[in-house]
Amino acid sequence: MTAAAPGRLTGIPPEAFATAARRIMARCDELSRVSADDGSITRVYLSPEHARVNRLAAEWMREVGMTTRMDAAGNQLGLLRAAEKDAPVLMLGSHLDTVIDAGRFDGILGVLMAIETVRLLRVPGAELGSWRSPFPFGIEVAAFSDEEGTRFGKALLGSSAVAGQWDESWWDLTDADGITVREAYREFGLDPGRIGEAAHTSEQLVGYLEAHIEQGPELDRRSEPLAVVSSIASARRFQLSVEGEARHAGGTPYDMRRDALLGASEAALAVERICSAEHHIIGTVGQLEAFPGAVNVVPGEAKFSLDLRGEYDEKRDAVWQRISRDLDEIMGRRHLRWRAREVHQAPALFCDPLLQDVMAQGIGSTLPKGSAEPVTLFSPAGHDGMTIGSVTPVGMLFLRNPDGISHHPDEAVSAPDVALGLRAFAEAVAHRGAEPVS
Ligand code: GLV
Ligand code: MN
Ligand code: MN
Repeated sequence: MTAAAPGRLTGIPPEAFATAARRIMARCDELSRVSADDGSITRVYLSPEHARVNRLAAEWMREVGMTTRMDAAGNQLGLLRAAEKDAPVLMLGSHLDTVIDAGRFDGILGVLMAIETVRLLRVPGAELGSWRSPFPFGIEVAAFSDEEGTRFGKALLGSSAVAGQWDESWWDLTDADGITVREAYREFGLDPGRIGEAAHTSEQLVGYLEAHIEQGPELDRRSEPLAVVSSIASARRFQLSVEGEARHAGGTPYDMRRDALLGASEAALAVERICSAEHHIIGTVGQLEAFPGAVNVVPGEAKFSLDLRGEYDEKRDAVWQRISRDLDEIMGRRHLRWRAREVHQAPALFCDPLLQDVMAQGIGSTLPKGSAEPVTLFSPAGHDGMTIGSVTPVGMLFLRNPDGISHHPDEAVSAPDVALGLRAFAEAVAHRGAEPVS
């Protein structure tokens, strides 16, 4: 990878990055107030809050000279045109949806950094008061509508539509109230029959770049503000159920119990034992419910989730096989039955060598001369690039997240790191602009 490179953005005064970072932090605060819950941040796909943040993002995109539209999947897009009509676009972005009781930066930061990158790089257009891209490609900012999968259990719905990867079976997914994706589309004012119009082709795209907080402690531990991302984890998600027998909690002796909750609990411990012994394999049981859920009844049924991630698909799948064998043993010993329904699968995404290189050059330009190579990290967290990578090369930049906490209200990033990250990101775009379009 290329060592520290001279910056290309010599005409931009250093204060411009600090000013933009302050605006980004203020807007992260503003967006955090658009929530379904009082006092915490929850913003899910196709909700009134989704519509409100799209309107705000569109306003901020127009403010920097972009033309805006909401696409057929509810993604908010802004376009800074190239001088040449019909030129392809470099897409920059991230997502505006959140998990339940979220932090204020996951996804949101990347969208706002993309908008500020446009503000920094744009040049006057042919018409008075207009702006254009200085590169042989346009810049399209994407504020993806659903990355987390909070509402319908299936992640990456927004970017899947942009990648032309929409699966017809997703229309029938339901939320906690039994509302299908199809019904939610109509209620939001979108036409399910037009979903194909959201798709971008490879010919329309030069690549996709995303800035995101690191959702772990690696940069903080190394006292480094920024990293190039090498790849995004492959993922599989399952809903598992265990069936035993509900019986009287007092009257049922231990040798007669078929306690489904204990089977599920032992399964969760097996997931931890198996995954923690592997390098770059992470398994999490994040949901666990017992039925009938009464204080004086042995649980006859238990349901739990499994989120499994790995650097490589093959190793992730081999670990799932091992977990399955352990579940057979645990449930057999406890006279329980179990089954698993797979609800999400995404292959590992390896970032494009050229886009890793321009990110490294971008970070390099923020470092003192003679510094070591920028840090490169694998991302165990999922990102929109996982789906966008099926149509165009992907590059990602991570920003330090103090203590590494994410999917939590304490999620943080500092304004100086955002200023540095913005400079690196804008430099990376400029470096990509100096390379041939395809
Ligand atoms: C998304 O943030 C994920 O990695 O689950
Ligand atoms: Mn997230
Ligand atoms: Mn995210």
